[in-house]
Amino acid sequence: MNAPAYPAPRPAVPGPDRGTFLRDVVEGLGYPQKTIPAKYFYDLEGSRLFDEITRLPEYYPTRTELSILRRYGTEVMAEVPAGSAVVEFGAGSTEKIRVLLEALPDVAAYVPVDVSGDFLEAQADALRADRPGLRVVPVVGDFTREMTLPPEVAGLPLLGFFPGSTIGNFEPATARSLLTRFRDLLGPGALLVLGVDLVKDDAVLNAAYDDAAGVTARFNLNLLARINRELGADFLLERFRHKAFFNRSRSRIEMHLESLSAQTVRIGDHVVQFAPGETIHTENSYKYTPARFEALASEAGWTVRRVLTDDGRRFAMFVLRA
Ligand code: AVJ
Repeated sequence: MNAPAYPAPRPAVPGPDRGTFLRDVVEGLGYPQKTIPAKYFYDLEGSRLFDEITRLPEYYPTRTELSILRRYGTEVMAEVPAGSAVVEFGAGSTEKIRVLLEALPDVAAYVPVDVSGDFLEAQADALRADRPGLRVVPVVGDFTREMTLPPEVAGLPLLGFFPGSTIGNFEPATARSLLTRFRDLLGPGALLVLGVDLVKDDAVLNAAYDDAAGVTARFNLNLLARINRELGADFLLERFRHKAFFNRSRSRIEMHLESLSAQTVRIGDHVVQFAPGETIHTENSYKYTPARFEALASEAGWTVRRVLTDDGRRFAMFVLRA
């Protein structure tokens, strides 16, 4: 057998460890408003379902962001020095990085960071096959916690890439600290390109998170299936229903799983009671105005270089410099 041409993935957190997952779930289900952190959506099945969401007619963010990247990529990337390393935070699929890389022929290395190790490896392999000159150095880990860059990129100019409006999953104050952390990690002079979903009509937003084919419902319910699989819980999926709506006063989509009856669920040694109609809050997806996001970024030490939007002003890509 040949020696591997590329380094193995970093041995970091291989997804969540069972203990942390259990603790987070039990703690979240103990609050008056039951809650489960949205990052747990993305096991292998969840990542697949999310991929399916991105192709739904109602889910405009992914295709809108891609169209912005295609339209402005080359022009914007003129600012990126040759031999840069691109660090992508939360690299679920390689579709966007491929478009970005088309605009960046001289990039030296690509560092996808993601908690879903299996999915990350499969995607990294595909990218290596297509771009033999590119050094692909996956980092399996949680970029919201402590993370360091691999030695392979030491000394290279850095470009952070945070597409998909993942920033919208965080409370605004947490989003600000995350941007500060990215700034500290990437260092002065670094660029950051990130996608931000914009405030718009309720109907468009609600449909994007409650599609007619029910894929988002399956994505939401997979969280319970995952808890059953990995933590030995006994959630009955048919006794919960997917619920998603735009909360305009807080400028966010909220996703919940609503209990259809009074019921008791066991998770290991723990017992959780549900009243009929009671919900588990599973995700927030904050929507910004360009001005509100610009304020957040500058509070985190970034200067806005460009704000790129589509004609419908549904979605924005910000180009920031540290
Ligand atoms: C991956 C967080 C950007 O909020 O739009 C899609 C996740 N949830 N449909 C989003 C999601 C339901 C998505 N992000």
